[in-house]
Amino acid sequence: MMPGSTTKDAVMRVASFSLLILSSPSLVCDAFQQSSCIIGHNRHPVGTGLPIRSSNNHSLHTNANVNNNNNGKRTGGINNIISSSNNNSKLYVSTEQDQEKETTTTTTTVITEKKLPGTAVLDKPWKDLGFEFRDTNAHVKLTWKEGEGWSKPELVKEPYVNVHIGATALHYGQACFEGLKAFTHKDGDVYCFRPEENAARMQSSCRRIMMPEVPTEMFCDAVKTVVRENIEYVPPYGSDGALYIRPLLFGSGSRIGLQPADEYNLIILAMPVADYYKGGLSNPVDALIIKNYDRAAPQGVGAVKVAGNYAADLLPNQLSKQKGFPIGLYLDAKTQQYIEEFSTSNFVGIDNTNKRYITPSSPSVLPSITNKSLMQIATDEGYTVEARDVKLDELESFDEVLAVGTAVVVTPVGSATILDDCEKSTKGDENNIVYEFGDDHHDELGETTKTLYKIVREIQNGERDDIHGWNMKVDY
Ligand code: COI
Repeated sequence: MMPGSTTKDAVMRVASFSLLILSSPSLVCDAFQQSSCIIGHNRHPVGTGLPIRSSNNHSLHTNANVNNNNNGKRTGGINNIISSSNNNSKLYVSTEQDQEKETTTTTTTVITEKKLPGTAVLDKPWKDLGFEFRDTNAHVKLTWKEGEGWSKPELVKEPYVNVHIGATALHYGQACFEGLKAFTHKDGDVYCFRPEENAARMQSSCRRIMMPEVPTEMFCDAVKTVVRENIEYVPPYGSDGALYIRPLLFGSGSRIGLQPADEYNLIILAMPVADYYKGGLSNPVDALIIKNYDRAAPQGVGAVKVAGNYAADLLPNQLSKQKGFPIGLYLDAKTQQYIEEFSTSNFVGIDNTNKRYITPSSPSVLPSITNKSLMQIATDEGYTVEARDVKLDELESFDEVLAVGTAVVVTPVGSATILDDCEKSTKGDENNIVYEFGDDHHDELGETTKTLYKIVREIQNGERDDIHGWNMKVDY
């Protein structure tokens, strides 16, 4: 039995019903109300070796009188298979002819195998996946057109889009994205963590760069569809991984003068992931405080998740890594006196003596949904949460520093370094300023880091009461 499957799950339900006329494969797909169908004519037998959670095996019978010249013998066989992508069903059509009675009986059997989370065959164990692009079954795509609004969602198998050469996303960076995760609970059910928050944040990105807002319900439905469609890629319970969901909205309409597009594509893709930074929780990262580049201007676009913010970080990010710092920490662009955020995530400083959780509040910091959740958890745990300006020299006073975000979850930061000379100095130079966090050894995991990580992950995994109602179930 494959990991994640149980005997209870391996139940096959059989149902049969009659269909009078079966004129085309797509009719059958419509009959099953698939939001999208991928139709194939392969002749492989049903049964991919994957565990079956519950299967619906429908037999559709069609009777029709036909003339035949087969000497009264019965003939027949499978002559078509239709695969419907989102319930993994295969449809067999077989015909039998009885020449004596001059009848042909067509029997159509639909066998549906519902796949289980954690059963995809990957090149690596779930816990070693890191944070990399991986092809999955399909992504969801919707299009918005001026005068028409949003199209119906479409499932697309190929990981490509056909984009006009004048698309505003390509020329003027009119694009924003989101990141959220789905997890498998112990009972095999799958939940997404706080998708409404991502919808709201995408709406604020849309307002800032003049794109049509994606309504929350439409966003959540599309997220559910992509999870359902890629259900076997949701890592199994206990693997510590997640299905990372990436909604992306971009201007696909062509403009050469500077103005918003008249057409947009919303694409929601998903892939299984594990730790963003190698070693995850057990390996605190060393941060480089970036003095020679800024992430966001005070009245710019730092507070929204637009693609250009991340493009601006690519070079500083690479230079930091080359010097041995996996993560960069940005300061405010105006004075360089205040901490803003990490390249990939929000900043949190912990004062254990006074049980304080301190995080920068700035108009150019992205409001992280993980940070928002941790602020709530810290409050529940009796911490005082301070969202305010955080001076650079306050780094000295923090017992623990965390990088928090969807991708990085709660990543402990072992140290933060200001290079004596941004270009020439290297890690370890004696004139650098180095702040160390954690207990005596900077690579010891702090008690608050442990607590916050444990609580948020237990909620995401369904191991703790979801008292704030953060988990959204995805039926599959
Ligand atoms: C996320 O945490 O979801 C992000 O989008 C950050 C990105 C750098 C991976």
